[in-house]
Amino acid sequence: MKNTLEVRKVSKIYPGRVQTQALSDIDLTVQQGEFIGVMGSSGSGKTTLLNLIATIDVPTAGEILINQKNPHTLKRNQLAYFRRRELGFIFQDFNLLDTLTIAENIVLPLTLDKIRLSEMENRLQQVAEALDIVSLLNKRTYEVSGGQRQRAAIARATIHHYCLQMNLQVHWIQSRRKM
Ligand SMILES: Nc1ncnc2c1ncn2[C@@H]1O[C@H](COP(=O)(O)OP(=O)(O)O)[C@@H](O)[C@H]1O
Ligand SMILES: [Mg+2]
Repeated sequence: MKNTLEVRKVSKIYPGRVQTQALSDIDLTVQQGEFIGVMGSSGSGKTTLLNLIATIDVPTAGEILINQKNPHTLKRNQLAYFRRRELGFIFQDFNLLDTLTIAENIVLPLTLDKIRLSEMENRLQQVAEALDIVSLLNKRTYEVSGGQRQRAAIARATIHHYCLQMNLQVHWIQSRRKM
């Protein structure tokens, strides 16, 4: 089975007047298709770990491989591309844009990659059907319920067929099969 995520001997020390060792020697492997949750007491380093995996921050030591690639060695513009293609983020407050329709919000990651319109519509239909939000596609975000907004955010996070999908605030990591 393929490893989607490998965290190898990762440590994180926050510098400052008083240094904080937030993570020391963390190992974690997530295989294709696995769905995991990260639990721990407040201050135990959950957000730090997720930020490192999400490529928002860099480890002090150790390495992180996502789909056998180490994003922390990429240049800035390569990293932006990697994030867009390989990672899916679902934020707790959903981060949908209220000037766009639900459909426009969902296809946003595809428009950044200049995917063909017909392909976009295909994928939109697929994820919208899977999440039962087809009838909401032309509505604005403020015209639908919280649960429906959440499903729209999930649709947006899955439309790229990412290999690794993260819910950053509730700390779920889902490794997806590339479709
Ligand atoms: N930006 C930062 N600068 C300095 N210390 C930090 C920073 N972020 C978190 N910490 C410290 O690192 C430790 C782990 O924090 P965090 O990862 O936020 O824990 P959790 O999400 O599990 O509550 C804590 O001791 C916290 O105070
Ligand atoms: Mg936290």
